[in-house]
Amino acid sequence: MKLILLFSFTVLSASALDYKRDVMPIFKEKCYDCHSDNAKKVKGGLRFDDEENFYKRFAKNDVVIPGDWDASFLFVTIVRPEHEKGAMPPKNKGERLTEKEVRTVAQWIHEGAKIDGEKGKKGSDELDPEKILKFKDGRIVTEQFGPAPKALEPEWGEWTNAKGITITARFRGLSKGKVSLELKKTGKKVAYPLEQLSKESQEKAKKLGGSSEIKMMEK
Ligand code: HEC
Repeated sequence: MKLILLFSFTVLSASALDYKRDVMPIFKEKCYDCHSDNAKKVKGGLRFDDEENFYKRFAKNDVVIPGDWDASFLFVTIVRPEHEKGAMPPKNKGERLTEKEVRTVAQWIHEGAKIDGEKGKKGSDELDPEKILKFKDGRIVTEQFGPAPKALEPEWGEWTNAKGITITARFRGLSKGKVSLELKKTGKKVAYPLEQLSKESQEKAKKLGGSSEIKMMEK
């Protein structure tokens, strides 16, 4: 038994993820149009085809924080809902990463974002994406934000609060009793307590927010 455990440990550590071998091919397929030498103009000054250049960019905008995958902007951009600004690749401009590819990127960052032999600090074991990164219906589910909204209102809609004041906004999610709305006027996102909305707006939010939250609230 001991031997088997030892053996599997060796295998695991031998397969620690490396940028060039494991991550670069993913980006090559899905990001090079805009983030490599292939691009007419390298978008955001960020290149994935040149490890040295990429490594130098780690700190800028916290693009990669070795050991801290969910705080790394790179990770945020690839899991951001497709329709949102800043989602990568931008909507209709390329193929999104598969769940497996997202996991590889997260795991690589977690392990210290090894690039060309250089390696940063590894994240703590509790935050190993293998343990806590979960997907539902192709979207990540985080403790902070709860399940991602299933359906999105295609258009701007009218939302009314309990006092009868109506605003134009777009539904962005429902979590822990708060409705996230994007205000048309300012483009800002606000988290609004569900019970402070009118009955109809509450119903609308629940319908758009997916089933899990409704079940919780109906109890
Ligand atoms: C069609 C072009 C296009 C494709 C394809 C694309 N991006 Fe981008 N990317 C952009 C643009 C435009 C920006 C924004 C630049 C800015 O605002 O300065 C950007 C910015 C970024 C940033 C932020 C850089 C920073 O320092 O703020 C990251 C991270 C990123 N992209 C990752 C990716 C990844 C990963 C992929 C592939 C899965 C990808 N992009 C595919 C166009 C693209």
